Amino acid sequence: MISEYRIALKNIDKYDPNQIDDYIQLGGYEAIKKALGKKPEEIIESVLNSGLRGRGGAGFSTGLKNKFTNQSEGLEKYVVCNADEGEPGTFKDRIIMEKDPHILLEGMIISAYAIQASKAYIYIRGEYTESIEKLEVAINQAREKGIIGKNIFNSGFNVDFEIKLGAGSYLCGEELTLIESLEGKRGNPRIKPPFPAEKGLFGKPTLINNVETFSHIPYIIEKGADHYKSLGTEKSPGTKVFTISGDVIKPGYYETEMGITLRQLIYDFAGGMKNDKEFYAAILGGAAGTFVNESVLDTPMGYDTLKEKGAVLGSGAIMVMSKERSIFDMTQSILEFFKHESCGKCVPCRVGMPQLLLLMDRVKRNELGRVEALDLLLYESEYMAKSSLCPLGQSPILPIKSIKQYFEKQF
Ligand SMILES: Cc1cc2nc3c(=O)[nH]c(=O)nc-3n(C[C@H](O)[C@H](O)[C@H](O)COP(=O)(O)O)c2cc1C
Ligand code: SF4
Repeated sequence: MISEYRIALKNIDKYDPNQIDDYIQLGGYEAIKKALGKKPEEIIESVLNSGLRGRGGAGFSTGLKNKFTNQSEGLEKYVVCNADEGEPGTFKDRIIMEKDPHILLEGMIISAYAIQASKAYIYIRGEYTESIEKLEVAINQAREKGIIGKNIFNSGFNVDFEIKLGAGSYLCGEELTLIESLEGKRGNPRIKPPFPAEKGLFGKPTLINNVETFSHIPYIIEKGADHYKSLGTEKSPGTKVFTISGDVIKPGYYETEMGITLRQLIYDFAGGMKNDKEFYAAILGGAAGTFVNESVLDTPMGYDTLKEKGAVLGSGAIMVMSKERSIFDMTQSILEFFKHESCGKCVPCRVGMPQLLLLMDRVKRNELGRVEALDLLLYESEYMAKSSLCPLGQSPILPIKSIKQYFEKQF
């Protein structure tokens, strides 16, 4: 029987998140002391060598982001935590913030030291009231103890924190749109490049990472890059928090080494299929994710291994469907979600999203065959992927392409 391996979730339910002393008793904030005794470049080197990849969805090297932000010219730099958590089926960041806010603060302070930022922001989903409360308490307590603020642990390093509530839009989780929103503007995307590492918040170099990503940093500093890299797979080192929902007996959050299979996650962790129903499909990575069938059950979960199968790991969301569910209905609800969240700034997405839904409606009215409709969905979403201004308009291609690959007959 495989068991969990917890890094980001290692303190969950082990202390009262309202008590900083409990966190300190568990060895919390020791990694900061260790980090402050090193040069910022050494911290960046450790993160780079650990092989940690961003846990927000894209899987970009966290060490490289640190390096690029560090190399960018600028007297002022920022660290931003993406705590918007808008991807359907994803609830890992909320768990970390509600139950272990200090691990996030610790990871962010170390990252701020690495790139020499004096201000850190947490952009948090506005509905996450409990997470917001816990973080506010944690920041105040850390400030009182001199862990946040001026001259942290007498090192001469200063960093302060601010929490900003999200604007209630899925698109505001996209890093450059988030930055716009953080600056007080409407949540419209910016054209990339420049990337945040070069020109981010208020035009300054900015390191932006997901909650789970930051929560791995203290562990990497404490245990070393080599140890971290020995976990997981060669191209996807470390652990990942998977959030499993749908037709399983024990939906929830599970942190394991990368390389675990979907079958192990469903049957060993989530207790198997509910009511002994047969496994039919899983959606990996949320709405901007991919459908897979039973042929992927034994594929090791990792960025590259799933890519070879035409699938994505994304945020780690896994929505499990039994034979009773309809791929068509699920596709429709995903497309409705995208249409609702489109900001309307560019034509391919503003016009394309309703067009995709129109095709679905025509199938329901028996005006269009399903095979033909799927081909048209693919054609339109490919066009949108090529011509839309930001990643949201480029997203429908992901689920649609995977349906063509795995569920063409069942659509
Ligand atoms: C439409 C859209 C929504 C996104 N929402 C989130 C989100 O809620 N949380 C998140 O961490 N990343 C989200 N991302 C990914 C971010 O743009 C970015 O890749 C992430 O903040 C980088 O952090 P990481 O390197 O630690 O993963 C979203 C991306 C897109 C295109
Ligand atoms: S792709 Fe969609 S969400 Fe992105 S800018 Fe265009 S309309 Fe807005």
